[in-house]
Order: sequence, then structure tokens, then C-alpha cells
Amino acid sequence: MPNDLDFVIRHADVVTASDRFTSDIGIRDGRIAMLGQGLPPAPRELDASGMLVMPGGVDGHCHLDQPMPDGLRMADDFFTGTRSALCGGTTTVIPFAAQAKGQSLQAAVDDYHRRAEGRALIDYGFHLIVADPTPHVLAEELPRLIQNGYTSFKVYMTYDDMKLNDREMLDVLSVAREHGALVMIHAENSDCIGWLTERLLGRGLHAPHAHALARPAVVEREATHRAIAFAELVDVPILIVHVSGADAIEQIRWGQSRGLPIHAETCPQYMYLTADDLGHGEYEGAKCVCSPPPRDPANQTAVWKALRQGVFSLVSSDHAPFSYDDPQGKKPGGKEVSFDHIPNGIPGLETRLPLLFRGVKEGRISLHQFVELTSLRPAKLYGLYPRKGTIAVGADADIAVWDPEKRVTIANAALHHAVDYTPYEGIEVSGWPRHVFSRGGLLVEDGTLLDIHAGRGRFLPAGRPDLD
Ligand code: URP
Ligand code: ZN
Ligand code: ZN
Repeated sequence: MPNDLDFVIRHADVVTASDRFTSDIGIRDGRIAMLGQGLPPAPRELDASGMLVMPGGVDGHCHLDQPMPDGLRMADDFFTGTRSALCGGTTTVIPFAAQAKGQSLQAAVDDYHRRAEGRALIDYGFHLIVADPTPHVLAEELPRLIQNGYTSFKVYMTYDDMKLNDREMLDVLSVAREHGALVMIHAENSDCIGWLTERLLGRGLHAPHAHALARPAVVEREATHRAIAFAELVDVPILIVHVSGADAIEQIRWGQSRGLPIHAETCPQYMYLTADDLGHGEYEGAKCVCSPPPRDPANQTAVWKALRQGVFSLVSSDHAPFSYDDPQGKKPGGKEVSFDHIPNGIPGLETRLPLLFRGVKEGRISLHQFVELTSLRPAKLYGLYPRKGTIAVGADADIAVWDPEKRVTIANAALHHAVDYTPYEGIEVSGWPRHVFSRGGLLVEDGTLLDIHAGRGRFLPAGRPDLD
């Protein structure tokens, strides 16, 4: 019978980026088939009274099983990473197929598909990382890949094995303009960082806290401004990723106020961590080494304010999972190394949404902004809307049913990633996803991950970025 439903969520207090309404949600064949009160019965039903029912999160920036140099290894692959995402209410992830210098972009994509195949629990897309924009990459590979559903790519202004020079940045931006793709930019001035690093090491400063001294706000501010100038020159939209505080925000506001199509992303580490978390000499500070580094309380306030005011398009985790007690992680070769050799990045897939939801409870952002920043806008920017990012008839039934009052003290022991720590240990949040559906399948029930098999998540070719 065409009206038969597989599942009905009853009495849902549905919240999207723009609306809030009470409805039953009827699911058929993995999609939302009906919305309305008093829907017909289904073989499986869930009473959502007292809960908030929101679209599953879309994490538009995370790193899973990314090939690493020098004997390093990410702790999470597509299985453990998507398991962790799911338990935190995220139902789509977009990690990076990273090109190594000298490698073809297509080879990087093929390799990354092999890594994902049979491992993901939830749907996923790929961004590209363009580290070697040869004439062949620019003229052949990149346009073909954009055509085939890889419509966003990241470029780095720092990291020796990844960074592009200004001329290369302009070349990549120009391909994005011609073929309708979105360039994500890691904005930090590489030479400034190198110069500062040398001086810090020369003065005997080796410990993790020096990482923050080597990457002060001014190096992010300068690169952010330069990236905006490039976008203006080429006349193309850009997205500045992992913005850490007031200086870079000021540049982004400046660009936006000139009518330039500048989008920006921030991450929970810039709302909840500070440079103090990198320690004062002790190696454990390596757990919070990421780039740009977390700054100070005034910058945290600036990030929250900019979120409320709409400067940012999205909040992503930038989950970059390296275990602490791991010779392939934060202690390369089993040693406590100088700050410039600590792998950059922190875990955060599972905690992204609850940490941002705390901002809703504290009145820093609205509930609709929460959905917009964590689900709708990433789905739109990365060409997955309206299939992902909302609760509407025809959309995938990717749904997180939140208990808005559940109090949780974040503890690594309760998380589902494969990393041996969380930088958010001990932070209290109020609100956590209680049930999570991915393409109609109830995969988390009453906070418990059900027995699910790896490989049910599907690759999502991306459409054109929707920048509205
Ligand atoms: O420190 C960070 N952010 N590591 C992940 C890689 C990146 O630059 O996003
Ligand atoms: Zn980056
Ligand atoms: Zn990243």
C-alpha cells in the first residue's frame, strides 16, 4: 500500500532552522514521507513527547583516516568516527580526500573511497584537499571531479607539506569560480609561523604551550585578510575555516560589509578552550594542540557574539583524531617532541552539538541558529540540501531526538571515538541526543548505540554549493 509507513515519530516538537511546529513524522524507505497530526499507525513508533526533534547534524569539517606522513596515524577511521558522530547527533560527515604533493587528485579520491568503503555507519561526502595544483590538476582533474560531485576543496596557507603560495591560491580560486565550487581556506601565515618557531626553539621553548606563541592572532588575521583580498580579486566566494577569535572575525566582517561573498566557520574549541589548555610546560598540553590555537576568554566571547550576529555560516568539529599515548599520535615515535612536531588537531565529532547546544541553553544563540549552523548551512554549502539539513517531506529521515534537559558531564570513557582523550573532559552540558535516525534507521535508542553494521552509510556526491 502506498501509504504504508515504516516508522512514525509521534508528538514531535520539530525545530528546523526557520520553523517550530508540533507534528507526527512518518518515515518510509528512509525518507520523510508525511508530516502532520494523527498519522496512520506504523509497525514501529516512537513517542517524542517532551523532546526536541531536529535534523541530524551535518559536520562539514572533520578528518577521518586521512593518510599521514612520518609514521603518524589518525585514531579514527570511517567506522569509529561515524559511530562517534552518530552518538552525538550528527548524521552526515564530510571529511577530506587529501592530495599529497606529487600525487594525482583522482588517486587521492580513489584511495579515500577505499578507506570509507564498508566502514561508515552514516552518510558521507568528501571535500578535496588540493596540495599540488599542477596544470593538469587545474585544467583536467579538478573540473572533472567538481562535475562528479566533489564541489568543495580546502587549501592551506600553512603546513610545509600542504601549503600553496599566493599564485597557486589564485589559480585554485579561479577554477572554483569557473566551475562553481567552494574553496575552504586554512588562513595562517606560514612564514611568520616558521620565523616565530625558530626563535622560540632558539630560546629553549619546546613545550606544547609554545605552539600558541608561534601562531598568534596576527598571523591568522593577516592570512584571513589576504584570502579575502584574493576572493575579491578573483570574484569568487570563499569559506574561511576554523576561525579562532576577534582579529580574524574583524577581517571577515570587513569583507562581508563590502558585499564580498565571505563565509566563515568556527569550532567548539574556540568557544570552550583557551591557550592555557596547552599547559605551562607540561607535555599533556599536547592534547589541545590544534591550529589555529585556542586563544583567551575575550576571544571566546567574540566568537559567541559573531555566531549570534550571523557572521559565521557554520560550526564544525574539525575533528582531527590523534591519541595522546600513541607513538603514531601526540607522542610521535613514543617521545615527547618539541611543539612544532606535535600532530595538529583535536577530537570533537561527538561533542560538537552538545557543546553548541549549551550556548542555546545559556541564551547565546537561538535554537533556530543552532540548527542553521550545524545542519542546514553545511548541507547547503556542500551541495547536500534539501536531502540533508532539514525536516521536510522528501528529505532523508536523518533525525536527532534531543532530550533538552539531560545533564551530562563530558567524559572520554562515555564517548565512542577511538581517541584516548577528549579536550572537553569534565565540561558540563545540558541537552544530548536521545534517539538518532539515519536514513530512517533508528541507530541510537535511549542513548544506546544499537547493533549496527559498518558499511550502511553511503557516499553522497555533492551538488553545486548553495551560498544563500
Ligand atoms: O589543527 C588542526 N586544525 N588540525 C586539522 C587540520 C586542519 O588544519 O584543519
Ligand atoms: Zn585547517
Ligand atoms: Zn581540519
